[in-house]
Amino acid sequence: MQLNHQVVIVGGGLAGLRAAIAAHDSGVSDVVIISQLPPVRSHSVAAAGGINGSLANHPNSKDDNWEKHMFDTVKGSDFLADQDAAEVMAKEAVPRIIEMEHWGCPFSRNDDGTIAQRPFGGAGYPRTCYASDKTGHALLHTMYQQTRKRGIKVLQEYVVLELVVRDGRAIGLVALNFLTGELITVKAQAILFATGGAGKIYAHSTNNLLNTGLGIALAYHAGVPIKDMEFIQFHPTGLWGTNILMTEGCRGEGGYLVNNLGERFMVKYAPKAMELGPRDIVARSIQTEINEGRGFNQGGPGGGYVHLDLRHLGEAKIDERLPEVREICLNFAGLDPVTTPIPVQPSQHYTMGGIDCNVNGETKVTGFYAAGECACVSVHGANRLGGNSLLDTIVFGKLAGDRMAAFVAGGSGPANADAALAEALTNIKHQITALQNGAGTEDGPSLRVELQQTMFHHIGVFRDETLMTDGLAKVRRLRERYKQVKVRHTGKVYNMDLLQQLELKGMIDVAEAIAAGALARKESRGSHARRDFTERDDVNFLRHTIASYTPAGVKLDYSPVAITRFQPEARKY
Ligand code: FUM
Repeated sequence: MQLNHQVVIVGGGLAGLRAAIAAHDSGVSDVVIISQLPPVRSHSVAAAGGINGSLANHPNSKDDNWEKHMFDTVKGSDFLADQDAAEVMAKEAVPRIIEMEHWGCPFSRNDDGTIAQRPFGGAGYPRTCYASDKTGHALLHTMYQQTRKRGIKVLQEYVVLELVVRDGRAIGLVALNFLTGELITVKAQAILFATGGAGKIYAHSTNNLLNTGLGIALAYHAGVPIKDMEFIQFHPTGLWGTNILMTEGCRGEGGYLVNNLGERFMVKYAPKAMELGPRDIVARSIQTEINEGRGFNQGGPGGGYVHLDLRHLGEAKIDERLPEVREICLNFAGLDPVTTPIPVQPSQHYTMGGIDCNVNGETKVTGFYAAGECACVSVHGANRLGGNSLLDTIVFGKLAGDRMAAFVAGGSGPANADAALAEALTNIKHQITALQNGAGTEDGPSLRVELQQTMFHHIGVFRDETLMTDGLAKVRRLRERYKQVKVRHTGKVYNMDLLQQLELKGMIDVAEAIAAGALARKESRGSHARRDFTERDDVNFLRHTIASYTPAGVKLDYSPVAITRFQPEARKY
């Protein structure tokens, strides 16, 4: 079967839905969303603590404005963010958040009825708007209602397996109907990927199981460069054992981080900001406490942890502001944060890099766009501030949707698409047959675990030449072994084995780009912390890493960072 649409959005999370709404509202009558999940189960739903915008609603944020938001974002990024893009995001934050309010998002409120805001890490003012600790949930449901209201069509439980590009022009997609096993092609005038991050390339991640970076890999394989992949965010407070997110809202509401000596150790690392330092610094501080023997469960299975102590907040405040945290702790750790400190450890959380694109989502490939976590605009640079990811989705989702509508209005569909799509479909069928019928002896799930452990231990919170060289070699050996992977399950309906082994190829290639980019960056910047090059080096590395796919492996190039308002300076908190 072949479908034919003007605008095709891949991904039903916040960025994808916002882009679909924008394209629709700009006059495109034929917009379709293709999503692996029912949209309201997309990973945006898991974003907990809030969304940043300089609304100045908090008593301590009366002087806040977009420029201060921009500065905090750029400083948080360790000056790797493109400042022109950060300016767009900070300026657009307020209108986009108010729009969500007008669309019915149930934000928490101040007594005067304005949207409530809380402090978050690395921010000079309390500017994180929230809906208790379920902000992503509230935003995603609101956004989904808006797509339903407009009658935008959703093809759910379809997995895109190839982005088809010919002569620098995106033509369409090959997708798998996960419910039936049928492969289809989709011809499109414009395609946007909003497929989420690559967190599951790592062990110990807060991410949803589907965040394997498949969209990033498909773009990369199709010849779209990916940018700054070595910058992987570790959230300071993943619940020990399961790595479920314990939102930064816990610290925004006044929670403490405490070591096994009972010390609020952040006083040593960020004496002014304390627990509300930026994530890279807080995650490294926790890991240092554990590495130096001041954690709990030192050397025990599951690794060490420190305590996130909320007890002094009291039951009423925890129930009002952090109800989901309490529920998760009760259900997944058997403890009540009202009476017991929460064991936490740094956990992979966010992919700062992604598909190289500009503020309008445009990539090097005509007709192909990206937005949300799979994209690198870049506004997060080397370290994203908490609360800026939800914002990124709704700001850049809208701009990309607007731009796609203009593109579609200005031209015709791709030429000679049918033959190219038929060829791509045949190739995918051969790939699946080879995985299912080949004589391979490798077990895909074991390779996946090896990859995740390799990335967590070798390209993790702290890095050095030896660790990363070994890690990159391991990833490359996994790529060789992948050629012998066999899919054991041949069923048509919901064949997770098949999907996971198809994902694994992309996971390995994206992991190679992460590891190679990290090894080549001989400095420490944001989340990229090297023990052998401990300082930031603006002379040689104030530049973006651009990774391009070749069948022989990753090829690295560099591009300049846009510096407009703020010269790089030492980062102190
Ligand atoms: O901690 C959190 O609530 C996460 C927020 C974010 O990643 O922006």
